[in-house]
Amino acid sequence: MNVHDSEKIAAKLIEQGYNLTDDINFADLILFNTCSIRQKAEQKFYSELGKVKLIKRKKPQLKIAVAGCIAQQEGRAFKKKRPFVDIILGTQNIDQLDTLLNGGIAIDQKDDVNALELTAERQDKVKAFVNIMFGCNNYCSYCVVPYTRGRERSRSSQSILNEIQELGTAGYKEITLLGQNVNSYKSDCSFPKLLSLIHQIEGIERIRFVTSHPKDLDDDLIDTMSQLQKVCNHIHLPLQSGSNAIIKAMNRIYTYEQFKEKTIKLRKTIPEIAITSDIIAGFPGETDSDHNQTITALKEIQFDGIYAFKYSKRPKTKAATMDGHIDEEIKVNRLKEILEVQELTTGNINKKLEGNIFNVMVEGRSETNKNRWCGRTTSNKIVNFDPLPSLIPFAGMFIDIKIIQGFRHSLDGEIVKP
Ligand code: 5AD
Ligand code: SF4
Repeated sequence: MNVHDSEKIAAKLIEQGYNLTDDINFADLILFNTCSIRQKAEQKFYSELGKVKLIKRKKPQLKIAVAGCIAQQEGRAFKKKRPFVDIILGTQNIDQLDTLLNGGIAIDQKDDVNALELTAERQDKVKAFVNIMFGCNNYCSYCVVPYTRGRERSRSSQSILNEIQELGTAGYKEITLLGQNVNSYKSDCSFPKLLSLIHQIEGIERIRFVTSHPKDLDDDLIDTMSQLQKVCNHIHLPLQSGSNAIIKAMNRIYTYEQFKEKTIKLRKTIPEIAITSDIIAGFPGETDSDHNQTITALKEIQFDGIYAFKYSKRPKTKAATMDGHIDEEIKVNRLKEILEVQELTTGNINKKLEGNIFNVMVEGRSETNKNRWCGRTTSNKIVNFDPLPSLIPFAGMFIDIKIIQGFRHSLDGEIVKP
């Protein structure tokens, strides 16, 4: 979500005559698009801001801007505390950036879809993000997002389809639909219906979406995913905890049993689907027994991968005022155990893929070895492979790759000769 917001911010600045630079010392304007989901993200930003403050001391004409969730959360107080920051831009105010370039604050929450339907300076030539809904009404008790991103609102299907049509014409092959609760999309049509409309757009070969809330994953969506060949075999479905008491305290509105049932249904209907998840370690009041239930859940469900985090206290949230905050050391140990259990599962799952052939969309040269190439399976697994003298890959190409070795974070494969 933030990466795509940055693309919209960049487009807005380019419209005003700015160019992007990789060298911070050349910059006339430095803009931070911030995240406040956990304290660690905030800390990273404040340490970078400190460095930029020093640059500004030597170059007073440099403009500094802070956008995103921290800007939204801190508002005017932020500028009072740090007068060297020129521009404060809220999450729903990117459209106003052009009026603030000499300094100013825009943080009013408009809850208006139009304010965010903006052109983006996309960083990739074959994969594109497309917002379909903004904000969140769920108020999970640990989460700051409903306060920083406002109420849930969905774009009209026509506006989304127009944008994707343009992407298809421009040569984009894969789109990722974005929303805090992407499958709560509610507009002039349902989310499954929207998927079927996007499916008809020429040029687009793969459709992904993040992040899904388990409460909105119904049979209609599962059936639609299985029927539409362009919809990728992957779903990110955050469980957060394996303990019903904690899930309830988190205000997540499902039980572990209901969640598990949905993963069984998904795998039955779409056998090749990869299911990934998010887990929070050390939510207030979490006992050893609750934690052990999360460990059991990971072993039972066997996610393809997870993102796991230590619980982080966020301003305004209900959990911040709950009793039973957990000691840092216990959180660290629980997180470690969660990650260890998952690493084993991910390793085993990826090992089992050895010998199989997958259609891979090439994304570019491999990060770790520029002589090799990398791409992804529809199940979102990264595959590294060598080119052939007779077949030099390019980004956006689809190739069949045989998996030779499965690792924890990627797969190694070889091109199946056509
Ligand atoms: N502490 C730890 N993790 C959090 N997340 C959201 N808020 C917090 C918090 N306060 C995690 C959830 C969510 C993911 C995007 O970030 O697991 O699914
Ligand atoms: Fe945060 Fe819950 Fe909304 Fe996701 S669904 S953004 S975790 S409040």
